[in-house]
Amino acid sequence: MADDLPLAGRGCIVTGGSRGIGAAVVRLALAQGADVVFGYHSDEKRARALAEELSAAHPGRACVPLYAQVADAGEAGRFATAALGHLDRFDVLVNNAGVTRDTLFARMGPQQWHEVIATNLDSMYTVTKPLLMPLVKQRGGAIINISSSSGLHGIPGQTAYSAAKAGVIGFTKALAKEIGARGVTVNAVAPGLIATDMTAAIPQDKAEFLKSLIPGHAFGSPEDVAHLVCFLASDRARYITGQAIEVSGGLVV
Ligand SMILES: NC(=O)c1ccc[n+]([C@@H]2O[C@H](COP(=O)([O-])OP(=O)(O)OC[C@H]3O[C@@H](n4cnc5c(N)ncnc54)[C@H](OP(=O)(O)O)[C@@H]3O)[C@@H](O)[C@H]2O)c1
Repeated sequence: MADDLPLAGRGCIVTGGSRGIGAAVVRLALAQGADVVFGYHSDEKRARALAEELSAAHPGRACVPLYAQVADAGEAGRFATAALGHLDRFDVLVNNAGVTRDTLFARMGPQQWHEVIATNLDSMYTVTKPLLMPLVKQRGGAIINISSSSGLHGIPGQTAYSAAKAGVIGFTKALAKEIGARGVTVNAVAPGLIATDMTAAIPQDKAEFLKSLIPGHAFGSPEDVAHLVCFLASDRARYITGQAIEVSGGLVV
């Protein structure tokens, strides 16, 4: 029965939804009964192909791709307004879009620093701000912010990324306290090493070394992360808020 699905009838907005972890969240949310609007940034064709595939697989549910540049407040605001217009109701925001620009801090230029901070951290402001009041007024909903093990523990070569993802966790905890009384949960999910385009850029020898640090000696899949995101988006997680939950195969224990 469709109504028994954990996200039945929920309206979800996902940034960075056309590939990697975001695409896995979009897929699973639809399979669990949600209507989904997702943002894409660089590849409209890929986003439209995913939406067509999922719309055919889930007739009667919305699966809408929209352009989103989350590092820019004006663009993010236009995305948020347009996304709301495509949903009968809005319950879940997944702030997933992110980038890495790895280099040692000694070599990092200001452009790399600002791009990483703008995309991963400023986006918490630019995307969440216009979407907050609808959730607060509704007195219910969930915000899930994608952080990283890098933000929890710090990773050399990722000073900007670690700073941004640690900022995501601070933002998550503070906002959870601000709006908990309105029935809106706010949690962070911190993936470790997940097999997506982002980790495909890691040189082979370094990837093997990183795998050796993981108890199961393997990177996770985007679906491993999506399952937690969709659980946190559901009513089953209504008593979980302000948390940063790692999905890393025990990278650091
Ligand atoms: N993979 C990992 O091991 C790992 C580990 C920890 C945390 N994470 C985090 O998980 C999230 C998803 O990462 P992923 O592994 O799925 O990476 P990915 O495959 O590289 O995908 C990144 C996503 O972010 C979107 N994006 C990038 N810059 C954007 C911008 N300025 N505006 C809007 N969207 C933008 C991309 O959109 P387009 O495709 O349209 O460009 C894409 O959908 C990120 O926040 C990342 O930091 C990943």
